[in-house]
Amino acid sequence: MTTRILSGVRPTGNIHLGNYLGAIQNWVSMSHNIDEHLFCIVDQHALTTAEDASDLYNHTRLIAAAYVACGIDPDKSYIFAQSHVPGHTELAWYFNCITPLGWLNRMTQFKDKAGKNKEHANLGLYAYPVLMAADILLYKATHVPVGEDQKQHVELARDIAHAFNNFVKCDVFTLPEPVIPEQNARIMSLRDGTKKMSKSDISDYSRIHLLDDEDTLAIKIRKAKTDMDPIPDSKEGLVDRPEAKNLIGIYAAVSNQTVDAICTTFEGQTFSALKATLTDALIEHLRPIREKLTLLLDDKSELDRILARGADRANELAAISLNEVRSSLNLYPRPKGQ
Ligand code: TYM
Repeated sequence: MTTRILSGVRPTGNIHLGNYLGAIQNWVSMSHNIDEHLFCIVDQHALTTAEDASDLYNHTRLIAAAYVACGIDPDKSYIFAQSHVPGHTELAWYFNCITPLGWLNRMTQFKDKAGKNKEHANLGLYAYPVLMAADILLYKATHVPVGEDQKQHVELARDIAHAFNNFVKCDVFTLPEPVIPEQNARIMSLRDGTKKMSKSDISDYSRIHLLDDEDTLAIKIRKAKTDMDPIPDSKEGLVDRPEAKNLIGIYAAVSNQTVDAICTTFEGQTFSALKATLTDALIEHLRPIREKLTLLLDDKSELDRILARGADRANELAAISLNEVRSSLNLYPRPKGQ
């Protein structure tokens, strides 16, 4: 069986350290052992939370360039925009017709995003997890590397695959596996260690953008919330200290050390010492990414080449799945032109 990765990022804002450490870094390392890898810029999902669509074009370019800058090889993997493959929305419709509302009512992300104003939330936001299941199953992905916040959605995709197979009484879909990294699955806000780092947080100081320059990076780490206690001698001492745990976790990720090793080095010191070292490590780690990202954003023809190559392969795979799906649903085949 061909192993295949499918994952994506919503182009709803500036790509941040959480997207990189929680997802894209894992895509890069997994790509070496999996046959085929497709990375989507899920632009149609972005419309579910957009106040208007004015930034979508630029954000789509930014995410595509960021995939490459973070280490995805665009000639070994396929990078494409969701809206370039109409099969996503077609498959989502078939799934809409077999997904019980009760399953969608359990989705925590809808509850978080719709908030108290559920009556005014749009239908797209509610149906979002069904479109996400279509993104994954259209390519018969075997592995779906995501941060922890997306686990429930990938599990729903498995349930939908199962329900569809039952409906058509045929194993059209294999069940995809969510792959959540052991470390960094949830990078938290720099302003509140109990909230995840997110593109939608109103405070820019809550997150590190991959395009932040070195001065901005330094200010954001300096202003990051911490507590008054000294650094403990092991990771057990970080329990119930969300901001401290988050900063040490980020430092561990970008310096390739364990949390315990960092605690041993900084034991008894205050966070200002760690913040200075973390700033240097972050700057070093993110510099090549930012430089490559900036170069690519200026190279429209290269980005277009990458996206066209990705869309060609994605449409090829989508056509195979959709033929199988339509036939399993007994939809009347389109007659050949006479
Ligand atoms: P999105 O755009 O919110 O995030 C993209 C990826 O980044 C991960 N992530 C994080 N990981 C760790 N810490 C954080 N603070 C953090 N913030 C974000 C997310 O878990 C995700 O892996 N619904 C998806 C996009 C999507 C998708 C798909 C993903 C649509 N279709 C199909 C996989 C497969 C989303 O909103 O991701």
